[in-house]
Amino acid sequence: MAAATEDNWSLKDQIAKVFEASLKVTVPDEPEVAPLVTACAKKEFGDYQCNNAMSLWSKIKGKGTEFRGPQPVGQAIMRNLPTSDMIESCSIAGPGFVNVKLSTQWMAKSIQKMLKDGIDTWAPKLSVKRAIVDFSSPNIAKEMHVGHLRSTIIGDTLARMLEYSKVEVLRRNHVGDWGTQFGMLIEFLFEKFRDGEVSDQAIGDLEAFYKASKQRFDGDPEFKERAQQAVVSLQGGEEKYRKAWAQICEISRKGFGKVYQRLGVHLEEKGESFYNPYISGTFDLLREKGLIEESEGAQVIFIEGKKIPLIVVKRDGGFNYASTDLAALWYRINEEKAEWIIYLTDVGQREHFEMIFTAAKRAGWLPTDESKYPKTNHVGFGLVLGDDGKRFRTRSSEVVKLVDLLDEAKTRCKAALVERGKAAEWTAEELEHTAEAVGYGAVKYADLKNNRLTNYTFNFDQMLNDKGNTAVYLLYAHARICSIIRKSGKDIEELKKEGQLILEKEEERELGLHLLQFAEVVEDACTNLLPHVLCEYLYDLSEKFTSFYSECQVVGSAEETSRLLLCEATALVMRQCFYLLGITPVYKI
Ligand code: ARG
Repeated sequence: MAAATEDNWSLKDQIAKVFEASLKVTVPDEPEVAPLVTACAKKEFGDYQCNNAMSLWSKIKGKGTEFRGPQPVGQAIMRNLPTSDMIESCSIAGPGFVNVKLSTQWMAKSIQKMLKDGIDTWAPKLSVKRAIVDFSSPNIAKEMHVGHLRSTIIGDTLARMLEYSKVEVLRRNHVGDWGTQFGMLIEFLFEKFRDGEVSDQAIGDLEAFYKASKQRFDGDPEFKERAQQAVVSLQGGEEKYRKAWAQICEISRKGFGKVYQRLGVHLEEKGESFYNPYISGTFDLLREKGLIEESEGAQVIFIEGKKIPLIVVKRDGGFNYASTDLAALWYRINEEKAEWIIYLTDVGQREHFEMIFTAAKRAGWLPTDESKYPKTNHVGFGLVLGDDGKRFRTRSSEVVKLVDLLDEAKTRCKAALVERGKAAEWTAEELEHTAEAVGYGAVKYADLKNNRLTNYTFNFDQMLNDKGNTAVYLLYAHARICSIIRKSGKDIEELKKEGQLILEKEEERELGLHLLQFAEVVEDACTNLLPHVLCEYLYDLSEKFTSFYSECQVVGSAEETSRLLLCEATALVMRQCFYLLGITPVYKI
């Protein structure tokens, strides 16, 4: 996936660099060999290991090498390691694995450096300069449903991780604003408001309006014909129709905006209609390459290995979802010069995107070698299920509205806080703010912690539990750390400047090591497009903190300064995880 640059700061990369130097000396005739470094699965072995010996041995054994098996290769790799203040000791295991134990002193120093210079110094540095994340993308006049919630939450996190990694991200809302449904909606609008005076209030609930017009459409052939004519007038650019269309879009936009505001998600709309003027030019290019063919009255692109071709112009001459996506992809590569284009939809649309990407490769817009740029990825996700194991619906089997979900999460959190006496302790704003942060955070985290490809069950009781792998537990853990620091009465900014961090006890060292692995975990989650990797890291971090805190007294101990610094580093990394997951941290509970 997206490669990291040379000056990337991650523990793994730093260790890999040391091994790279050794490999150059050990096998000077194999300059292409890259160091294979991973974290040790068992801590008895060490912290990291280099796994090159075996594969290197099979590579060189026929070439008259001085080595007599993989183990001697490993030994030589170990012997040739340049001196490094990172490494405390090394050992060989099995057929030549080189295990590394990091210098505890070096670890402590590195954490202190981050405390001084800020968490940004641990950000991955990717080689991609500009990316597009196409996410959320609901359809106009329809309510956003939980599928769009997943797209919004996962897309926002990926965008945040890329931004943190210094990639310029164009956050695209590819709203469905150009379908045939608009003929029906506009005709219905004209019928209801003959004088042409339309306002948000008059339309009221846009979804109900959609349903009513659909009923009219299905029930009256004469209306249906007018609606179809209206699409032609709209697409032909007739003023009256454009205006009505724009009004409907604006009402929807306001509704979506409310959800985004609550979720703290920022998006820039370039809907399907935006690419309309680019479709014919894009198709000319595809025709020049001989990609578009006639089939059963429609125009299609045949894709190798797929039974059904990609329809790009319908039989009636109209464009469709695929036509827009081809034009949008052309635009993104050639006009917006994006190097990495990431699409978020449910897994059901995988096939659609595979066909679009293949067409783009055949047209020469994308390289066929997927390790090269520009590149595209479809980031699919599974369904949200209800307790009955079926698609998540309301009792009356309606689509669950996003706003209702968020309201309920907040209300439940507020009730829990009131029950714990916070209404008396805090100001009304504090109560409100915390209920929102925890409630919305819980909804987001319950989604993000799962591997996105699997379905998950939406359950308020589970996600709002203050124990277990939930945002509530994690937010409280963070607040507790902040309160330890507050209660010490020490000025943490002063300690950062003058205090010294020492990782003495086993639990301190383990926590320290986990902190230092933050950069490589973000890089992994980001380049492999898997937010749950970061959630797992965050949960492990709070567990490691708990072990540390139950073994090591902080306030009032001889090691107070050092341990407060470790608390602060943990809180900082936790906050950065929250930030990347789009969750607002709280500081007191
Ligand atoms: N509007 C579509 C839907 O609700 C998602 C659009 C995704 N983006 C794209 N470029 N096709 O399913």
